[in-house]
Amino acid sequence: MPDLSTRYLGFTLKNPLIVSASPLTASIEQIRQLEGAGAAAIVLPSLFTEQIKIQSLGMEYYLIGQREMLPEALKHVPAMEGYNKGVGGYLAYLHEAKTAVQIPVIASLNGDFDSDWLPSAKLLQAAGADALELNIYFLAARPSVTASEIEDRMVNLVQALHQQLKIPVAVKLSPYFTALANLAYRLDQAGANGLVIFNRFYQPDFVIEERAVTPSLELSQPGELRLRLRWAAILRSFIQADLAITGGVHSVEDVIKGIMAGANAVMLTSALLQQGFGHLTTLQNELHNWLETHHLSNLEMIRGQMSLQYQSDPAAFERANYMTVLKSFVGEGFKPQN
Ligand SMILES: Cc1cc2nc3c(=O)[nH]c(=O)nc-3n(C[C@H](O)[C@H](O)[C@H](O)COP(=O)(O)O)c2cc1C
Repeated sequence: MPDLSTRYLGFTLKNPLIVSASPLTASIEQIRQLEGAGAAAIVLPSLFTEQIKIQSLGMEYYLIGQREMLPEALKHVPAMEGYNKGVGGYLAYLHEAKTAVQIPVIASLNGDFDSDWLPSAKLLQAAGADALELNIYFLAARPSVTASEIEDRMVNLVQALHQQLKIPVAVKLSPYFTALANLAYRLDQAGANGLVIFNRFYQPDFVIEERAVTPSLELSQPGELRLRLRWAAILRSFIQADLAITGGVHSVEDVIKGIMAGANAVMLTSALLQQGFGHLTTLQNELHNWLETHHLSNLEMIRGQMSLQYQSDPAAFERANYMTVLKSFVGEGFKPQN
């Protein structure tokens, strides 16, 4: 009977399937069902540091919609109570979630560099979070802000939280860094217990007749996994922190690829929104069967097998791969349409 257990952020998980941050984990009934279906851990939807700032300024302005009373930087922050229950509601929910399920409950904190991360993180720790996932969402849109400034701030933030908190800290990263390997290494050295790769950005769309910018959220496609696989395979060779893959994990093959790339765990949201919670049970059974068919007794036997350090052809993840892919397209009989 293959052992599906894995280690993530210091916890022994019964399998590598974690439900990532989204409204799926926003109700007690749902998290119980997710646990029943096989989820090994859950990440709650994000609490936004702006919400904590607004509350500390006087919750009443926020609730009764008098946004003009708020400081300029906070006027455009949408009311998020419907999404994550507000600050008080989130903390109460986190506390209740801890008693409702046995699996680790990871709180998610989303903010930028103007945020008061430490007090917010301490609130989540006090409410019972088993671990904290940081979603540092900062769009580097000002030409005066340099890459090294942003990266230094991220590293300093992780170091401060690591030193001040008792619970493990994971960082949900974006792929949009010039030197991702260097940043990941520095975050690892700063004490990050886990790196979650990668955040999906929901790019705004245009409504052309109205000249308006509109928010747009599309669920992931399995093809998005490849960017994660490549980076997990690269990072695994020198990062001590645990790695979790989020983005494009839909099938059991995706789970196996993630582990082979070197991930400790994979996270799911889109696949569960599309296929229901029962998909967790299916994935677990299929993973079990795959290991059995291949006479493998645990995940350790395949973890990192496809990572850069074990690849006989390291170029497969690097520049030469790009050239090979371009060449293979022509090789497949590509004919331009006239
Ligand atoms: C409706 C929805 C809400 C989400 N909310 C959050 C969130 O609050 N915080 C966060 O870090 N990620 C959030 N995500 C991103 C997911 O956690 C996940 O990283 C992303 O969907 C990629 O994984 P997937 O391919 O399994 O969907 C959300 C995703 C969806 C679809």
